[in-house]
Amino acid sequence: MNKSERPGNTKKASKPGAVKNAQRQRENDDPDEGIRPLPWFLVMFLGAMAMWGAFYIYITPSGEDTAYGDQRSVALLRPPVAAVAGSGGAAKVDGKQIYTTKCVACHQPTGAGLAGVFPPLAASEWVLGDDKTLINILLHGVNGEMVVKGNTYNGAMPAWKSMSDDELAGVMSYIRSDWGNQGAPITAEAVGAQREATKTQAAPYAGGAALKAAL
Ligand code: HEC
Repeated sequence: MNKSERPGNTKKASKPGAVKNAQRQRENDDPDEGIRPLPWFLVMFLGAMAMWGAFYIYITPSGEDTAYGDQRSVALLRPPVAAVAGSGGAAKVDGKQIYTTKCVACHQPTGAGLAGVFPPLAASEWVLGDDKTLINILLHGVNGEMVVKGNTYNGAMPAWKSMSDDELAGVMSYIRSDWGNQGAPITAEAVGAQREATKTQAAPYAGGAALKAAL
């Protein structure tokens, strides 16, 4: 239906065709959606990326065992227990840690002790001397006169037999290896054997002479 013939259009144009053309030229076209294809280079690029991805997955070796990854336990990731620092490889526990919790208050972090009260462990002839005597000191304690590095002490060294063989071996191996000490590590087996051999020892040794006599 022609615009001028519409029922509501009462305006009469003298020259219908000319008016229609003028109107048409004034108006813009209704907007419409044109067909805008993706640029060809983008299509090629995406295709190339997809192909590269597929190729990459294809060539990547898949030899990894998927059982690893998150399924490893904390125990597996821990370093081997025998490699504890300061134990000389002999102990399954951290001797330094035991020293820090149980011995440091008296014998001091430097192993130098406290003059006249607590004897030094650094360069001590008892620490670096006979294995069994050192184990005896730790297992049963000392309560009496003993000479350490030329000084006489008369204090009370507690007994530590409540610690396990591993722990005692660890702490003894540690005090033999720090502060310049270079003694051989002590094994848990040696502690166990000495614990058995001295099981009748109920009280602390009564000083250096008693320790020597116990051998
Ligand atoms: C409450 C303080 C105290 C604590 C804690 C203590 N000791 Fe002692 N320790 C002494 C005293 C005091 C002596 C000297 C005993 C004496 O005079 O009869 C001694 C002596 C020793 C000796 C022999 C003497 C020497 O200096 O070489 C060794 C070895 C030793 N202690 C190691 C240790 C270790 C290892 C620990 C920790 C497990 C420890 N002590 C914890 C007070 C302590």
